[in-house]
Amino acid sequence: MTTQPVDLKPFNSFGISTKATHFERFSTIQELQVQLDNRNNQELLILGGGSNVLFTKDFNGLVLRNEIKGFEITSEDKTTVIVKSGAGEVWHEFVLNCIDKGFAGLENLSLIPGSVGASPMQNIGAYGVEIKDVFQSLEAFHIETGEIHSFDAEACEFGYRESVFKRKLKGQYIILSVSFKLSKNPSINTSYGAIESELSKMNISNPSIRDVSNAVISIRSSKLPNPKEIGNAGSFFKNPVVDQSIVDEILKTHSEAPNYPAETGKRKLAAGWLIEQAGWKGKTIDNYGVHKLQALVLVNYGGATGQQIYDLSTAIINDIQQKFGVTLEREVNIL
Ligand code: FAD
Ligand code: EPU
Repeated sequence: MTTQPVDLKPFNSFGISTKATHFERFSTIQELQVQLDNRNNQELLILGGGSNVLFTKDFNGLVLRNEIKGFEITSEDKTTVIVKSGAGEVWHEFVLNCIDKGFAGLENLSLIPGSVGASPMQNIGAYGVEIKDVFQSLEAFHIETGEIHSFDAEACEFGYRESVFKRKLKGQYIILSVSFKLSKNPSINTSYGAIESELSKMNISNPSIRDVSNAVISIRSSKLPNPKEIGNAGSFFKNPVVDQSIVDEILKTHSEAPNYPAETGKRKLAAGWLIEQAGWKGKTIDNYGVHKLQALVLVNYGGATGQQIYDLSTAIINDIQQKFGVTLEREVNIL
């Protein structure tokens, strides 16, 4: 185990400099077991790519980076294939690997940063698809007993940017592998408006899964900051799910306000739109702020502290509450 505190800046996409008392990597269950045996009751944090966390203070405990690799076809028939990936694989590389093999279902989720193992944590989603749509099962290490448990989709209790691992089982499991049910006969999903227009810009009328992936990559690259250049963790807030009456009230003064169907009797508002309307888009305070192309993304231009970014998020929440009567919820995991 490391004896010197370790700076976590290279291990979080916000580029926040913060210290962990101990930092280790594991690429097998045996290594994980040894590191947990040496843990001595310290607080524990499992890290994948660090692209959905904000460190607001030093981490007084043990950070374990999941680097379990592996890509395996565990079963297949004429139309479907079950692909199992090690939790430490890079998500986008895994998606491209599936596309190379002609396995469809993940192409709309291209270019999402982070690891495969974190993908079920918040049921990652983009461009009309969430992983719950193609999820088969996962294997997870139960920290208290050392047993390996299997979870199907129902047991994961997936919701919008939610799963059982963020709620009642929070902190209890380490995800080791995830299996996805993919299709050999793709039915392309281009229902998300921007994909159709991107494909027609590319002069493609009969898209392959690679075309859809390329379209998604192009749209994402045009508005989301690359964490290698500007520190960020993607959408900082969830899109709020609210009662129809709140939407009606907003539409009275802003007839163009984007809103989408959600669970029965509810609508989803676009948090980015609310934040832009409130005047925050592109706002910069010293070396951090709100991204100029996507108001849902808070950015660290270099050297900001996590506490400064957290305080900015609080100011935005208060302002949106006051202006629209809507409570924004943070999507990023605050540490
Ligand atoms: P980390 O940040 O390392 O961890 C996230 C959480 O999961 C932490 O609580 C951590 O403790 C826990 N965790 C990680 N791995 C494990 C494991 N193996 N077992 C148990 N717990 C674990 N998300 C979307 O849903 N859609 C998007 O379109 C999207 N776009 C993004 C764009 C950008 C530019 C960025 C920077 C982020 C974006 N995100 C998006 C958020 C992020 O990519 C996802 O949440 C991703 O799944 C995080 O993976 P990670 O490995 O980096 O997780
Ligand atoms: N909008 C604005 N101003 C902005 C940003 C957005 O008016 O600054 C409007 C857009 O014009 C559009 C609507 O808000 O009408 C939705 O915008 P967009 O399609 O860009 O998506 P989003 O709701 O801002 C969500 C996810 C993203 C995901 C995209 C694409 C959440 C919290 N965010 O963003 O996920 O990539 O849709 O599907 O659900 C992430 O989770 O980190 C993430 C980036």
